[in-house]
Amino acid sequence: MTVTVIGISGSPHRHGNTETLLDSFLDGAAHAGAETDKIILRSMNYTPCRGCNACHKTGECIVQDDAEIIIERVMSCDSLAVASPIYSMGITAELKGLIDRAQYIWAQKFILKTRFYQDDVIRRHKGVFISTAGLPWENVFDAAFPAITAFFNTLGIEYYDNIIANDMDTYKGIRGHPTALTEAFTKGEKVVRVIESLGSN
Ligand SMILES: Cc1cc2nc3c(=O)[nH]c(=O)nc-3n(C[C@H](O)[C@H](O)[C@H](O)COP(=O)(O)O)c2cc1C
Repeated sequence: MTVTVIGISGSPHRHGNTETLLDSFLDGAAHAGAETDKIILRSMNYTPCRGCNACHKTGECIVQDDAEIIIERVMSCDSLAVASPIYSMGITAELKGLIDRAQYIWAQKFILKTRFYQDDVIRRHKGVFISTAGLPWENVFDAAFPAITAFFNTLGIEYYDNIIANDMDTYKGIRGHPTALTEAFTKGEKVVRVIESLGSN
């Protein structure tokens, strides 16, 4: 089987600290034999959720733009890496906007009950959160984790791991960090091997 790994880059800053860390993860996954792909949210065209709740009745989003295309695409991969820098102590508007747009999947699962994920299916879909922050605070990522948890839960993906690097201001960027890029590469390789060991659906 060929494991598929998709990275979502939620940073508006192209090739910055967070996208570079994501690239290292995807390189590791490719090195282990995975087919990889990267979605740059900044280049996609979607609006925030309108909160109209039409999806609570139909299970579908009435807004026709790139959000649904992205969501359907990432739901077909084996491992999803979601990357965002910390902005104002949380994830970027680009990523939060996309997560909110997955509400129609949430409605299918929790309101309409037309969607159900078996435990073994969840277990073999691995989600990884990748983030960087300027400050050295240990708790600087804490406000980001619940939104990522909600996204993976909605999509039927196990929240498998974090690759997070704080103190970017001191390190003068991710390339100055002593371990983060190597850690990301190694974790990219590892997630592929773990999924392979679990077998296909
Ligand atoms: C609008 C904005 C808000 C930010 N807010 C925070 C913050 O609250 N805490 C923090 O540690 N760093 C903050 N930063 C710094 C970024 O998290 C940090 O520089 C990160 O590595 C940038 O990643 P990027 O190169 O992928 O954009 C902020 C940066 C910007 C541009």
